[in-house]
Amino acid sequence: MVDSFDRGWRFHLGEVTGAEQPGFDDSSWRALDIPHDWMVEGPAGSDPSKMEGPFDPSSQSGTGAHLNGGIGWYRKTFTVPETSRGKRISILFDGAYMDADVYLNGQKLGNHPYGFTSFSFDLTPGIKYGAEANVVAVHLNVRPRCCRFYSGAGLYRHVWLITTEPVHVAQWGTTITTPMALAAGAQVHVETELANDGAAVAAATLTTILLDPSGHEVVRQDQSGAVAPGQSSTLEQSFSLDHAELWSPDTPVLYHAVSEVRLNGALVDSYTTPFGIRTVEFTKDRGMLLNGQHILIKGVCDHHDLGCLGSIALRRGFERQLEILKGMGCNALRTSHNPPSPELLDLCDQMGILVMDECFDEWKMPKVENGYGLYFDQWSEKDLTSMIRRDRNHPSIILWSIGNEIAESYTPDGDKVGKPLVDICHREDPTRLVTAACPDLHDSVRYGFDKILDVFGINYGETSTKSFYLDPVHGQEPMIGSETASSVDSRGDYGLSLDAGGNVAVQNQPDQKTHQMSTYDEWYPPWASNAETEEINLKNAPWVAGEFVWTGFDYLGEPTPYGWPSRSSYFGIVDLCGFPKDRYYMYKSVWGSQPLVHIMPHWSWPGYEGKAITVRVYTNADMVELLLNGKSLGVKHLPADAELVELDTTQHKKIKTMVDGKEVTKQENHFVVTKNNPSLHLAWSVPYASGELKAVASKDGQVVATDRVRTAGPPAKITLTPDRAELIGNGQDLSFLTVSILDKDGNVCPDANNEIHFAVTGDAASLAGVDNGDATNHESFQGTQHLAYHGMALAVLKTRYDASGPVTLTASADGLPSVSANLTVVPPK
Ligand code: GAL
Repeated sequence: MVDSFDRGWRFHLGEVTGAEQPGFDDSSWRALDIPHDWMVEGPAGSDPSKMEGPFDPSSQSGTGAHLNGGIGWYRKTFTVPETSRGKRISILFDGAYMDADVYLNGQKLGNHPYGFTSFSFDLTPGIKYGAEANVVAVHLNVRPRCCRFYSGAGLYRHVWLITTEPVHVAQWGTTITTPMALAAGAQVHVETELANDGAAVAAATLTTILLDPSGHEVVRQDQSGAVAPGQSSTLEQSFSLDHAELWSPDTPVLYHAVSEVRLNGALVDSYTTPFGIRTVEFTKDRGMLLNGQHILIKGVCDHHDLGCLGSIALRRGFERQLEILKGMGCNALRTSHNPPSPELLDLCDQMGILVMDECFDEWKMPKVENGYGLYFDQWSEKDLTSMIRRDRNHPSIILWSIGNEIAESYTPDGDKVGKPLVDICHREDPTRLVTAACPDLHDSVRYGFDKILDVFGINYGETSTKSFYLDPVHGQEPMIGSETASSVDSRGDYGLSLDAGGNVAVQNQPDQKTHQMSTYDEWYPPWASNAETEEINLKNAPWVAGEFVWTGFDYLGEPTPYGWPSRSSYFGIVDLCGFPKDRYYMYKSVWGSQPLVHIMPHWSWPGYEGKAITVRVYTNADMVELLLNGKSLGVKHLPADAELVELDTTQHKKIKTMVDGKEVTKQENHFVVTKNNPSLHLAWSVPYASGELKAVASKDGQVVATDRVRTAGPPAKITLTPDRAELIGNGQDLSFLTVSILDKDGNVCPDANNEIHFAVTGDAASLAGVDNGDATNHESFQGTQHLAYHGMALAVLKTRYDASGPVTLTASADGLPSVSANLTVVPPK
């Protein structure tokens, strides 16, 4: 039996003596339910007078989010029924950030340093039954500079109480593989580890029942085995199906294996494992094959935070992110740079998102002072094993990544540190290939690091001066663009100004005054590249399996290229609220299948009358006509697919290197010349006049899509649009409400930054977060008010437990009529 252990915790920020003791008085501590992240709430730093909202300019966290960690305690008091006596009771943490010391009734159960892996403890020896209370206490320590990106702090993922009979399926004890996957027939191989925590040998019978995607039994098999006390033993079963529904991003169908364990005919455990029937191959010349068919990986990297909600792992938060990503044709996610929350992987299985599951951001050689390097020697095998055992049955996972930009990957002898990790992956899961995201490609090749990997993961293979994708190495090994682009921009910020000559200029470098970045995709850091160039050169390298763009969503921390007051990233294709930037439509035009046309910038430029503004249009149609106030500005066609003219070999350097003990000559620095400066957008230079700019896209002579932007008048109203109006009263469901500031005709006011005040009526839900996507904003994410940014803001409602009934969110701003959104919370089934 698996019970949620999320409700009814007490929390204290800061160190306390004796808080692990059962008799400790925690009545003054804050009562809360988890998942909980205290970092996003903004604990004070060394000088509270300098804080701006939750943000601390002198924060030592080192992540750029300017939010503090520190020490936190959680306690939960609970009882266990007499009927559980004789059973095994364990506690499972999906993740706890970080350095968790876990106690039961004052006795230390153990420590788990890494904040991103799941771990459990057996509670049975110290548990009390009946009316007697038990206390689990968790001490967490989030040191400065322990993570290079925003980690969050706390019991930020779910916790579970697992009760089993002494003989049971071990934790993560099933391994299901599908060595053959054809619609006309499939083989399913099931290994089941049975654990015997009892005192006598157990003669167990395992029945494995396979259910098809509609829940009907397809086949079952019994098998008997003896399990010695205190031991486990693994039973293997093979099934042949005479037809199968194959898992793929377009058909994310799941089978289930139900493992029933019996002793003397009595059922003692029943354990269900969802799985998919599919095969995955990586080739040297054709990228990735799923079920034997080529599939291009159109992926993004994402960190684990949910913007204004911090790092709390709530299913609906992840589901919304995946919906938004799928909406632009994205089919893959890299869980940079750590194992994700398990429900994210469940969603990827169900929604058809391919996953590169990544374990580490550093090994022994540190990137940050208190990073994983402190734990690598003692913990890396356990953490990697934990990730793979937990995750190996997810059909969505196509690759294990042993690390991101690991310093050892471009250092002599780094292969010796990496090879044991690759071996662990192969030992735990012989079916999947292993990669690592390598930043210094030439040195990885030079030092043979690429040779320990099954698939060479390439970070920033495309820069303004070179394309590694087009390097001769492509003929030798499967490759994936594990991290690409890293373009930066601010949603709705075009960075237009009038220069000294009175002409319209576009911001093309960081602006230390505004700390914003133009969405014309003009700027990217030196290691990165323009998103469009990257797409074009990837098209010319069909041997590369695809890419993971840095990043799908903006995230807390790493506000490259700025420092304080910026506190969140500009890399996202989508902003921190989940609102698409214009770049979203560039990817959608390349990755998506629906007809699309999208105009940028907005069309409200008072003072620019008669000045030429570059209007950019993204489309996947054959041609687009642009019209200003009904008058045609001409028809344009996208240039034909960018063609590679030649590699400029004069730029190649020959280097000597050792491969498999032999000296070979390799080439370095491969410069690419592309024809006609191709781009993935159309552009018009349009003398500004207020009114309507309209783009009409046609394919085969038919209009397939239109888009328009209109000059907005002054703000006249607010709209509040929930993504879901009916929620479940399970304490964890979310509604994301988009706030828009509109003129009297319904046009978004692109400069509106009104202060919006939020009020909730009804007990079934409460305000969980507010934001506007502006990386420099210092208002609290947890407050009841927030400025709009470029005419938009976000409010997130979270339901309460055991709650139902109507909930109304009202948004008001000075000088504008208030507006309400009515939601209904229904009881959980
Ligand atoms: C990469 C790194 C990412 C992120 C990114 C920003 O080098 O792997 O974690 O820092 O740069 O461009």
